[in-house]
Amino acid sequence: MKKDRILVTGGTGYIGSHTVVELQEAGYPVVIVDNLSNSNRDVVDGIEKITGIRPDFVEADCTDLAAMEKLFSDYPDIKGIINFAASKAVGESMQKPILYYRNNLNTLMNLLDMMAKYGTKGIVFSSSCTVYGEPDENPVTESAPIKKATSPYGNTKQISEEIIEDVIRAGAPFKSVILRYFNPVGAHPSALIGELPNGVPQNLIPFVTQTAMGIRKELSVFGNDYNTPDGSCIRDYINVVDLAKAHVIAVERMLEDKSEAPVEIFNLGTGVGLSVLELIDSFERSTGVKVPRKIVGRRAGDIEKVWANPKHANDVLGWKAETPIDDTMKSAWAWQCALRERGIM
Ligand code: NAD
Ligand code: WQD
Repeated sequence: MKKDRILVTGGTGYIGSHTVVELQEAGYPVVIVDNLSNSNRDVVDGIEKITGIRPDFVEADCTDLAAMEKLFSDYPDIKGIINFAASKAVGESMQKPILYYRNNLNTLMNLLDMMAKYGTKGIVFSSSCTVYGEPDENPVTESAPIKKATSPYGNTKQISEEIIEDVIRAGAPFKSVILRYFNPVGAHPSALIGELPNGVPQNLIPFVTQTAMGIRKELSVFGNDYNTPDGSCIRDYINVVDLAKAHVIAVERMLEDKSEAPVEIFNLGTGVGLSVLELIDSFERSTGVKVPRKIVGRRAGDIEKVWANPKHANDVLGWKAETPIDDTMKSAWAWQCALRERGIM
């Protein structure tokens, strides 16, 4: 049976591109909309090489309401949306809060307006474990309290969740699945798509792979005096392909009217916390490549430890993170090597 078309906003980005691959492999026709503010048009070629299918690609800005009207009237068969499009750099959001509020919130509100007008059945929204701040208990369940956001970026995720809840409570005729990602890492095993950080990476894994490649002299480990077994911070590193697969299940749920509530929220993580030093060990062990590093002071605003209780997603979605961390690290390294071969980095 022919499946419904899915609109993937931010579909040339890191998590979006991996999700387009999984959607196409599950038989969904996809249209990507992306303004290429943090990605590259070549990603569409990578997706085509992996799946043998070229997704439709529309270069447009989701904050541009007229462009969204045109997109929805050009593709009247869109039945589901996955909204990845957002600005995501925490530090930059402290410097340019209006840019973050405008981009992330106007994008979402435009999409919600279009959905009501064009009869879209559901929207999957990319939220983040950042909504939990420093949790009182680990692992974190979905009912853990939402802590006051420490950055405009984090605040856009909290406000976005509230906007979705309010709009659906007010009677909007569609459903939503809100996915709170922990720390997505790694790349597609083909090394044809992956994460393409802009400038000096702020996130750990791109910094690790660039240091291993010799692009950066050494990795700074931000703090070894935390209240954790080895003193470095603990996170839940989730393989990006595993993460992408959860989106296909979430879409199916909404399109096939299987949701238990109009808005459902799921943590997407492995359930296992790893420290920064353990993650570097995994990288070195699995790739055989050393990562020069030094311990430096804490990074302002860092959470000490956070990892997911993914039971709700395991039980209700039938989804589970499967890829061992060493395989994920190998995939991150293979991607870094592919970037080097292509002369990109
Ligand atoms: P990314 O920057 O690689 O992808 C986002 C894509 O959206 C980019 O291709 C960018 O060009 C595009 N985009 C941004 N604003 C747009 C706009 N107004 N119109 C059209 N396109 C626009 O980021 P990612 O890591 O793939 O993250 C995807 C989503 O997941 C984001 O919403 C992010 O906040 C969320 N998230 C990411 C992480 C993470 O660690 N990567 C963790 C939790 C949540
Ligand atoms: C991971 C760990 C650092 C770089 C951020 C956002 C969060 C979410 C995911 C979107 C921390 C340490 C890092 C380095 C290091 N994104 N580190 N040296 O901080 O968990 O979360 O990305 O929603 O909102 O805040 O991820 O990859 O930056 O850091 O020691 O050079 O690695 O201190 O403990 P983080 P990260």
